[in-house]
Amino acid sequence: MSIKVTWYSHASFLIETDKARLLIDPFITDNPLSPVNADDIQADYILVSHGHGDHVGDTIPVAKRTGAMVISNYEIQNWMVNQGVENVHPQHIGGGFDYPWGRVKLTIAHHGSMLPDGSYGGNPCGFLFYIDDKKIYHACDTGLFYDMKLIGEEGIDLAILPIGDNFTMGPDDALHAVKLIEPKQAVPIHYDTFEVINQNPHAWAKRVENETSTKVAVMKPGESIEL
Ligand code: NI
Ligand code: MN
Repeated sequence: MSIKVTWYSHASFLIETDKARLLIDPFITDNPLSPVNADDIQADYILVSHGHGDHVGDTIPVAKRTGAMVISNYEIQNWMVNQGVENVHPQHIGGGFDYPWGRVKLTIAHHGSMLPDGSYGGNPCGFLFYIDDKKIYHACDTGLFYDMKLIGEEGIDLAILPIGDNFTMGPDDALHAVKLIEPKQAVPIHYDTFEVINQNPHAWAKRVENETSTKVAVMKPGESIEL
């Protein structure tokens, strides 16, 4: 079966396989671009890349309502338990785990991770998914780093990359990231949610496709692609 990847805008995605629904960084209620309501989301797993509010988002209410397992670093997992989330699985950077739907490894990300109440959120991460025969790399919030080349050596089908600048990579560094990773396909994220990260994703897509063999999917909030 194909893997359905739906963008909820910003860094948030729903990945649906024949075995599970994986919700990533569900910034829904306070997100001006979100195409969905937090109350309507169904998920079996929620992955949280770091502690910032625009990534933790609605994790707690969605996890409590659906019983979805929250996957995050150990520090965020501890905080989730203190907020009353019971179904959790801690991992940490460099570590992968085999779930019934596939495997996810936490990758490095150069960023911060303070939780909304000021608690320590450990180090931020990205996600490298191995689902069926596909590999999806969600960089989450990060600056450019040369070790993206190592991630690319895995043979990435889809790379999800921030282009917003200011808080993460901007368009130039995200283009450089594509050159290091050499994914089959790339999707730009983490732009236009706030004025300070406004970007033109179509201009970026043109540059990527002119300078590399990677195809770019510029998604609209709520839109899906299949792998
Ligand atoms: Ni952040
Ligand atoms: Mn962010």
